[in-house]
Amino acid sequence: MTPTMMVPRTEPAPRPSRDGKPELLAALRALRPASVLDVGCGEGALLRAIIADGAVRGVGLEPEDAAAERARAAGLEVQPGRAEALPFADDSFDVVTFEYVAHHIEHLPRALHEAARVARCAVLVLDGWYDEALPSQRVMRDLDDWRKRIDRRMGMVHNPCPRPRDLIDPLLASGPLGIDYACRLELNPRSLTELEAAARRHLDSVAPAPELAAELGRILDDGRLHGCTDAGTLLLCARLP
Ligand SMILES: C[S@@+](CC[C@H](N)C(=O)[O-])C[C@H]1O[C@@H](n2cnc3c(N)ncnc32)[C@H](O)[C@@H]1O
Repeated sequence: MTPTMMVPRTEPAPRPSRDGKPELLAALRALRPASVLDVGCGEGALLRAIIADGAVRGVGLEPEDAAAERARAAGLEVQPGRAEALPFADDSFDVVTFEYVAHHIEHLPRALHEAARVARCAVLVLDGWYDEALPSQRVMRDLDDWRKRIDRRMGMVHNPCPRPRDLIDPLLASGPLGIDYACRLELNPRSLTELEAAARRHLDSVAPAPELAAELGRILDDGRLHGCTDAGTLLLCARLP
């Protein structure tokens, strides 16, 4: 197994103010699974909610030792490993979930293929999403991508939020799945002053990078022109035949 790489941490990127977790849980409950694998479970918040529902076997997969240990200390079943090589046999779980994990995965197509292999009924993916038709959303997406470029310089795997086709194409390549997805957006304006302050702190965490500073200036100019609105969410459900 690939060892967990320790990378320096800066302040985490804020989650969208509209969190899609209630919709993820509703979609999960509608599937009435007896077993769920939560890939990249972190400290296990989703697993706790699933198990509280009743007779569901919830298992987490988490590559970061510290997060996995905290989940285990709370009584959860968590295995080490990575999404790209799930340490489970075919059809091991009714449902496989990814909650705000897809953009952290180095080889997303491989991970989705693995999820479709291990799931009997469905794969559920929740992540951030931007409506590229709206200028204020393009500003926020550019800022998010800019921030993630800095994180990648620091050794993190931190990719742009997946677009629907980034999930759908690899899933359909895995087999004849039925797919439905919903992109949801609440246009909440964000303070450009606060975003700029956070971005400059983030920029200060890497070696001087004039090209990144210039790119930030361009994004902020766009933000002054068009405003800046918070990310939405993408919730996708792929059903196996
Ligand atoms: C933003 S956190 C989300 C944690 C949790 N799912 C939640 O919503 O609270 C991303 C998680 O994905 C995990 N992760 C990163 N790369 C991964 C990979 N290749 N396979 C599985 N999990 C991964 C990280 O360790 C981290 O716990």
